[in-house]
Parts: sequence; structure tokens; C-alpha cells
Amino acid sequence: MVAPRSGDARICYNPAVMKAVILAGGFGTRLRPLTLDTPKPIVPIFDRPFLYYQTDLLRQVPEIDEVILSLNYRPDHIEARVGTGTEAGVPVRYIVEPEPLGTGGAIKYASRGIDDTILVFNGDVLTTIDLQAVVRTHRERRARATIVLTPVENPSAYGLVETDEQGNVRRFLEKPSPDEITCDTINAGIYVLEPETFDRIPDDTHWSIERKYFPSLVERSETFVAYIDRGYWLDIGTPADYVRAHRDLMTQRCPLGPFAGERTATVHKAGPCDVAADAQFDGPCFLGAGSVVGPGARIGPETVLGPGCQVGAGAVVEHAILWRDTIVDAECVVRGAVLGARCRLAHHAEIGPGVILGSDSTIGAHSRVPGTR
Ligand code: GDD
Ligand code: MG
Repeated sequence: MVAPRSGDARICYNPAVMKAVILAGGFGTRLRPLTLDTPKPIVPIFDRPFLYYQTDLLRQVPEIDEVILSLNYRPDHIEARVGTGTEAGVPVRYIVEPEPLGTGGAIKYASRGIDDTILVFNGDVLTTIDLQAVVRTHRERRARATIVLTPVENPSAYGLVETDEQGNVRRFLEKPSPDEITCDTINAGIYVLEPETFDRIPDDTHWSIERKYFPSLVERSETFVAYIDRGYWLDIGTPADYVRAHRDLMTQRCPLGPFAGERTATVHKAGPCDVAADAQFDGPCFLGAGSVVGPGARIGPETVLGPGCQVGAGAVVEHAILWRDTIVDAECVVRGAVLGARCRLAHHAEIGPGVILGSDSTIGAHSRVPGTR
């Protein structure tokens, strides 16, 4: 039996300053081929890199004066897109690991020389969390670590977290097998951590925060606090969940982004578009700036045309996501697919549900890619 914890009186918080670390170094293998040239943190959601939805949240916390992106996979692509953080609205710094250090090793590596409280975000979670409330809880409880939990139907793909009635974490079990599932609360991939607890993480070693650091806090009876959030939460790390994120934003199940507060079935144009008078739209749909829709084309519902996409005469595009500058020629049919950037579908091609085309793919005229769903 672990003794109840009352907080650590030795912790002296500097309330003025916090750093945020976004873990953005994974390979994004489940999202291939989309992530072959576009690392997961910058895959577009509508026309914005995904991680901007996270920096939007981090800006809620006035004490955060810098966001550190912890990277190793294709850091140059991320840096080229995000720069110093002007568009993100917060100063961004890059820490590139010499090799993947795992989630724990990466946090330690990224926070070298930092004594202030650190807010960590997994780089693939879309959420409406109230971060200020999380930080408040961490401070009120004088916690060594605070973790956000979210309820899910099936915890097996996540870190299962058991708590007690006082809101302390009692057990952390990464990727539990079916017979190990004892509750529905999982690690949402958002933590507030005191860097002095990183003493147990070896330097420059592949080390998992989920499999080693969190269990060790429980074993040593340190003040490890759970913040349960019942708002919107999604890990966008699989194609189905990447598509779901768009659907949830367009239908406002997740009340963020360009559709927030709009009427249902909105056709959102992010900038000037060239749309034929008899093109038909079934909202909700998103049209990136500079998209072109030809005569008699039918777009939607739940469809995204990235900036500069072109849809030819009589083509049908529904429940589909097209990244920027993709061209769908006349009379094509695209249903339930994701097409990377600069793809080219020649006329009368048909793409079916569940298909994912990597960027720069070309499909010949009259070809059929039926899909699996
Ligand atoms: N810098 C760096 N280095 N980042 C990494 C590394 C690494 O070696 N390995 C993974 N990451 C980043 C990924 O880019 C991602 O943003 C985050 O760490 C989590 O990795 P995933 O590969 O997406 O893990 P997961 O989804 O299977 O599980 C994690 O997230 C779940 C919530 O979505 C765990 O934290 C689970 O406990 C949690 O429930
Ligand atoms: Mg993930």
C-alpha cells in the first residue's frame, strides 16, 4: 500500500516562467505515405500545420515564453515550415536529437539547462484542454508531475492510468493487454513536470517516459497528480484518426479552427477561389485559398481542398482530403480518400474509400483505385 501524498514542500515554483516541449520526433509510420516527406507535426489540418493547433493552446498560458520542438525525423522540413514561430505566435526553438531517444530521453535532452517547470505535449494530440487549469492544479497540489487523462472506449493503444479518489496516479501501464484493462482513463500525452525529477533519466539513452519515468514516480510515492479532462481529445496518429480530426472540426464536435461557431454545413473559403457557377457544394467543406472548381463538379460533404487544388468539370470529390496543389481532372471520382500534395489524377480516374496517395503521385486516365473500405 502506497502512503497518501500531500505534495512536496521542497518544490519552489518560479511562477513567472515556464517552457513548453512538444515531442515531435516520431517517424509517423502509421501515417505513411503522407509522412514520408511531411513529418507528423506539420501534416496539414485544413491549411495549417497540425502543431499550430497545439501552439494555439500553449499561448493560453502566459508564463510560457518559449516552445521547444524536440525533433529527430526530418527536422529541416519542420524548421523550414515553422521558422522562428512568427505564424505560430510564440517563439520556437529546435532541439534535434542525434538519434531517437524515446519520449523520456527526448524530454531530458530538450530540457538541458532548464530549471523551470516544463509543460510537455505529445506532438500528435488534438484537444480543447484548459492548460491554465492544468498548471493551476499542478501548483496547488505542489506536484512533482501532473498528467492529463482522458476517457476512451478502448485503452489498449494508449497508456492506461489508474487514479485514487484524491486524484493521485496509482498505476501507469503503457499499451495494456485486454486482461490488464481496469479503467477507461488514459494518458492524454500532456504533462507538467518539474525538471528535478529528470534525475532518474540517463543522459543520451533511449528511454521511455511512459514505461519507466511514470511508473517510477508511483513506485517512489512522489506527488504524481492526475487531471482528468472530459473535453475533446484525439491522437491523430493513424489515417482514420487524421480523417476523423477533420470531420470533428468541420462538424464542430471539436470546437476549434475555421468552423468554430459557424453554422452547420458551412462551405468555408480560406481565401479567393475560382468556382464555376454551377459547381455544387454539400457542406461542410473547406476550400483553401486559390482552389479552382470546374463546371458541374460536386464537392462534399466533409471534404477539404487544400490551397491551390483544382477539381475539373463534372468531377466528384466527397469525404476526401486533398493536400495543397493537387489536381483532379474532369469526371474523376474521389470518395473517402486522402491525397497528398501535388498529386495529379488524369480524367475519369476513380479513387475509393481508405486510399491514401503519397505526395506527387500520378494516376492515369480511367484508372481505378477502389480502396478497401
Ligand atoms: N523527440 C522525440 N524522440 N519524439 C518522439 C520520440 C523520440 O524518440 N518517439 C516518439 N516521439 C514523439 C512522437 O512524435 C509523438 O508526438 C509522441 O512522442 C508520442 O509518440 P507516439 O508514437 O505517437 O506514441 P503513442 O501514440 O503510441 O502513445 C503515446 O501517446 C498516447 C496518447 O496519444 C503514449 O504517450 C501513450 O501513453 C499515450 O496514451
Ligand atoms: Mg501518438
